[in-house]
Amino acid sequence: MNIALIGSGGREHALCQKIYESKLSKKIFCIPGNAGTAQVATNINLDILNFKELLRNIKSLKIDLVIVGPEEPLVRGIVDFLNKHKIKVFGPNAYASKLEGSKAFMKSICKKYQIPTAQFKICKNNSDVKKFLKNSNLPIVVKADGLAAGKGVAICKTKKAVLRFSNEIFRGKFKSSKKLVLEEFLEGEEASYFLVVDKKNFKFFGSAQDHKRVKEKDQGPNTGGMGAYSPAQIINKKLEKKIIKKIIKPTLFALKKKKKPYTGFLYVGLMIKNNEPFLIEYNVRMGDPECQVIIPRLKTDILKVFTFALQNKLNKIPIKWKKLKCMTIVLCSKGYPGKYKKDKKIGNIINLKLNKNSFIFHAGTKIIKNNLVSNGGRVLNITSTGKVFRSIRKNIFKTIKKINWKDGFFRKDIGWRVI
Ligand code: AMP
Ligand code: GLY
Repeated sequence: MNIALIGSGGREHALCQKIYESKLSKKIFCIPGNAGTAQVATNINLDILNFKELLRNIKSLKIDLVIVGPEEPLVRGIVDFLNKHKIKVFGPNAYASKLEGSKAFMKSICKKYQIPTAQFKICKNNSDVKKFLKNSNLPIVVKADGLAAGKGVAICKTKKAVLRFSNEIFRGKFKSSKKLVLEEFLEGEEASYFLVVDKKNFKFFGSAQDHKRVKEKDQGPNTGGMGAYSPAQIINKKLEKKIIKKIIKPTLFALKKKKKPYTGFLYVGLMIKNNEPFLIEYNVRMGDPECQVIIPRLKTDILKVFTFALQNKLNKIPIKWKKLKCMTIVLCSKGYPGKYKKDKKIGNIINLKLNKNSFIFHAGTKIIKNNLVSNGGRVLNITSTGKVFRSIRKNIFKTIKKINWKDGFFRKDIGWRVI
């Protein structure tokens, strides 16, 4: 099969590598890709939101299957658009993508089907916000309704802060949001549970825990993710049963009832409190960097999983996992998630000798005049598998030391809960 993979992050490099290892893959094109995907695929530099241009290229390259990594093209309806032109795509339709693209949509499903989640109110104006504030305890979580590149959520400790952030949202801080959701603050441990779904079935696709804050001890502003490990140690069999029964089944039923089931990933963001799961968020894609710790543990041919899913036959394919654990640490440009410089040279890591348990997944990288340079905030995902998280992390530190990139930084406490 000829494959087009859309995206350019660490998630896409991990997926691209696995697709490259598949017996079913012939030519792989990554749009736009990064310096890592260029080692196993052909990068094509296109605007991933220009669907017509994408379609022209997909047709001329004789692509058999498109896989969409990031959320924005999904929420904007890339799957519906390509399907209309008879192109096969692994990814959710625009309606199902609202699980991620609209917090109000997701919360409304929770209310209708009694899915455990934080108490909430959907607010369209300041007087809605003030009403909710009268009867709520602090802190309160304020969420812009639409996509906001990870910046649309604020945990507010004062009513003043709630009003300030709400006002910013109503005034158009995030173009995609005219409304917002106010939520009760849930205390507990966060974990992510992944599925691959088709129009009739769903299958477990790994679990992970990530570290969103930029600084050690989970301090500082939120980022896209500074590191992750898999499996999530907090998810046991009993908890998994609850997640499936109380959260996943009613959600997939809600989509079926609207005649909008989909094929793709489902990322279930959870808060675990006293052994009970609460839904924090849905994403309709793999997580980044969670994907980078789940994919190295996957035994089954990934293209087989995608093709069975597209035939609604996920029930016919066992998805197998290695018994190994996996961790990734994200090497970031100094200054991230604030301002940072690009085009900083990274030394020759392409030729770095790694043992068979170690991987470097590229994120914000590109090649300029034969040099590897940084091209984003999150630059490299230094990843390793093994039996014990402590030695896995040691192994990752060794690799980072070899890279010795003076313009970068990383968190040294990734996995602190399990080490
Ligand atoms: P979201 O985009 O909804 O996942 O929110 C981003 C992050 O904010 C989550 O990963 C949590 O760390 C935190 N968060 C969101 N909602 C809540 C909540 N109701 N209670 C506590 N923390 C939350
Ligand atoms: N690591 C969080 C996310 O992918 O949304």
